[in-house]
Amino acid sequence: MKTQWAARPAYVYPFQTGDQRNKPSIHSQIGLIFSFRILFYWFVILLVSLPSNGSAGKRGAVAAGHELAAQAGINALDRGGNAVDAAVAIGLTLGVVDGFNSGTGGGCFMLIRTPRGELVALDGRETAPERAHRDMYLRDGQAVSDLSQKGALAVGVPGALATFDTALRRYGKLKLADLLLPAAEIAESGFPVNQTFYGRVASVVQTLREFPEIQSVYLDAKLNPFQVGDTFVQPQLAESYRLIASDGISAFYNGPIAVSLAEWMRDHGGILTQSDMARYQTKFRTPVRSMYREFEIAGFPPPSSGGIHVAQILKILEFFDIPSMDRHSAEWIHLVIEAMKRAFADRAFWLGDSDYANVPLGLISDNYAKSLAEDIDPSQASKVTRHGTPPHADKALFGSHTTHYSAADQEGYWVACTATVNTTLGSKVMIPGRGIVLNNEMDDFSAQPGKANFFGLLGSEANAVQPGKRPLSSMSPTLVLKSGEPVLSVGAAGGPTIISQTLVHLLLILDFGLGVEEALAHPRFHHQWKPDRVVLEASWPSSVVQALKNKGHEVHVVNQIGAAQAVQRMSQSQTFKGASDPRINGSSMQW
Ligand code: GLY
Repeated sequence: MKTQWAARPAYVYPFQTGDQRNKPSIHSQIGLIFSFRILFYWFVILLVSLPSNGSAGKRGAVAAGHELAAQAGINALDRGGNAVDAAVAIGLTLGVVDGFNSGTGGGCFMLIRTPRGELVALDGRETAPERAHRDMYLRDGQAVSDLSQKGALAVGVPGALATFDTALRRYGKLKLADLLLPAAEIAESGFPVNQTFYGRVASVVQTLREFPEIQSVYLDAKLNPFQVGDTFVQPQLAESYRLIASDGISAFYNGPIAVSLAEWMRDHGGILTQSDMARYQTKFRTPVRSMYREFEIAGFPPPSSGGIHVAQILKILEFFDIPSMDRHSAEWIHLVIEAMKRAFADRAFWLGDSDYANVPLGLISDNYAKSLAEDIDPSQASKVTRHGTPPHADKALFGSHTTHYSAADQEGYWVACTATVNTTLGSKVMIPGRGIVLNNEMDDFSAQPGKANFFGLLGSEANAVQPGKRPLSSMSPTLVLKSGEPVLSVGAAGGPTIISQTLVHLLLILDFGLGVEEALAHPRFHHQWKPDRVVLEASWPSSVVQALKNKGHEVHVVNQIGAAQAVQRMSQSQTFKGASDPRINGSSMQW
């Protein structure tokens, strides 16, 4: 049974035959390095890295994981666009400057609030190809992680571009070409490699050396990563963006880019075909809406698990007096992680694409939250051995490395968008001659019961591979409303920690009254049920680590968790404030 959560079809892209006009150009940096454009981009980066603390925008704000992307968002607003145009400009630019996280070869979830108060969830998640099947990653009865994490079989049908196009047609003011062409300029002229870029490419350099197409773009002549300060150019990607700008997204889904992709798949043992590409549809879904104290939380429904579990954890925590607690204390962290454990145990069992699996509405019911809250001992870590059973679990059902960006404008458009190719540079497959990195989102399916994915997440039959199904996600783009008016757009990157980060930021902002910059800088923690351990950022004092151990928690300390972006509207001044995670080279700008 599918309820109001089931997807509504959006666009079916008409078939169009291939167009071979645009031949890929040869990757070349020489001669470009000293161009005026490069100097211009350096200048923009210098300008936008100046501190924006204290300033607030009367007309809007954006926050993104790279300064050139944030600038593209502001440029879209300057050209008469709204927050939807700004978000799409950011997404397309991130595909150029932050391609290890997201791009047209990946997917996204875009949550939009319109000035009329409509809330819509655009599902641009990748989809399993028609020839995908439940046991496709098993060899000799065992799931083989490499098969779902790199190469041909790892790739789901990409959905980000279709979703950007849908968002613009329905809610934007600018044309896709208006936003693609400036991003193509950056791809062609290049931009300076920063520390984040270098580190991410270096972390996968061995695997990149297995894939000639991607190594010819992302590695230097000696097959090493480009160094910080080098200029990174992508002429093939620039050509692809320009081709899509002139011919529309059918160039990608039904035209020459789909042909290049399908040919590569055919020659490399893949199953993704041209008809899989032609069949892709962005799905319109109904956001998960719930109340947390006086705030309405709008989250993303399945195939995201984020909206449900952020809401579920908040509902459990409503039974405790969180605002009176010390946000630096082990007592607070303990309660939140006990709630997280229970939610993640439910995620592993109940969650999957709700067009294929029965996801109970009762997961976010007050009664179920109360029963889980009553099970929490404030003084002691508890063993959560299995998932719970929400009320009417068989009848009342939900009808479904990464980057997050937020945008808002004075007209009343608000956007929270999380986009991904999954792990760093996705499958490592680049469409030959097209410069487009393909995702490895198939790893977000449950390859086999009991077999953890890249992020250590377990899944059940609800998230087993099926043709046309969308893999379960943790991406949690979230909008918060107070008395019907939007006040916050927030979300994060970083696998399952996306849920914890989004949740903790909501608590810090809504319960403890922190501003967005302060909230994003606050130390983070995470628990995903299995493995049964708390992950703490190293910035927590040792006294907190010890207090959590005393309560019976196993504690695992890491340097940092994830990356988040947010835009807030200040109630006093009615101005907008963006914040980008201090852990990455992101940027927020006010307008
Ligand atoms: N690829 C990570 C997620 O969607 O949760």
